[in-house]
Amino acid sequence: MTPGPALAAEPIVALDVPTLDDALRLADRIGEDCRFVKVGLELFTAAGPAAVERFRARGADVFLDLKFHDIPNTVRGAVRSAAALGARLVTVHASGGAEMLAAAVEGAGGAEAACGVLGVTILTSMTGASAGSAWGRPAVNVREEVLRLAGTAAAAGCHGVVCSGEEVAAVRAEWPRLSPLVPGVRFAGGDRQDQARVVTPGEAASRGARYVVVGRAVTAAEDPRGAMARVVGELAGG
Ligand code: C5P
Repeated sequence: MTPGPALAAEPIVALDVPTLDDALRLADRIGEDCRFVKVGLELFTAAGPAAVERFRARGADVFLDLKFHDIPNTVRGAVRSAAALGARLVTVHASGGAEMLAAAVEGAGGAEAACGVLGVTILTSMTGASAGSAWGRPAVNVREEVLRLAGTAAAAGCHGVVCSGEEVAAVRAEWPRLSPLVPGVRFAGGDRQDQARVVTPGEAASRGARYVVVGRAVTAAEDPRGAMARVVGELAGG
């Protein structure tokens, strides 16, 4: 794979499809700009480690988004396995607590390892009211909760956090060492689907995202290659 252009943030394509064949076909339809892919719960549960291995063999980077949340010992082992597979980024829920996050970083091989651990703060599909109701509390202040969870992730040595474009500038300002990954990315005027907190790729980058995850805005487009070129164009400052 030839090196891509210098971009304000690295775009990662979410291959949320049921089979490895579908994922490979989708990546082929997107073409050269599909350099970094997200293997998530749907694809990994169906295809397993082969999904990561096939994309690594094609020269793509892999974000293994399995959002681990378990006892520290189990999460340490799961992240160790993800790192051994060649994942460049893995996710764990920041709400799993300081010990679990530290175990995840240890499993990856340490804070400077080739496999970076990202702490998921509050899912971009949630609002303050839905997060509060999930935790049996009144509506939470999303920004405060995201910053609090980002602090736990930073203290544990995580490479970064997952947050929405609405909080990314505050995360960057308060925790400059963390690399934020922003999902919930849509083109201006695009359909939000089930996402509550959305931004455009360009907005995400200008607010401080280090990585942006693009899913349906590209994968469900009639012309995925053209949609991805539009993402890259926005991230190149166009
Ligand atoms: O299709 P869409 O752009 O909404 O896809 C967003 C992707 O980012 C999905 O793969 C989803 O799992 C992921 N994600 C998210 N919110 C998070 C973490 C990951 O939407 N907090």
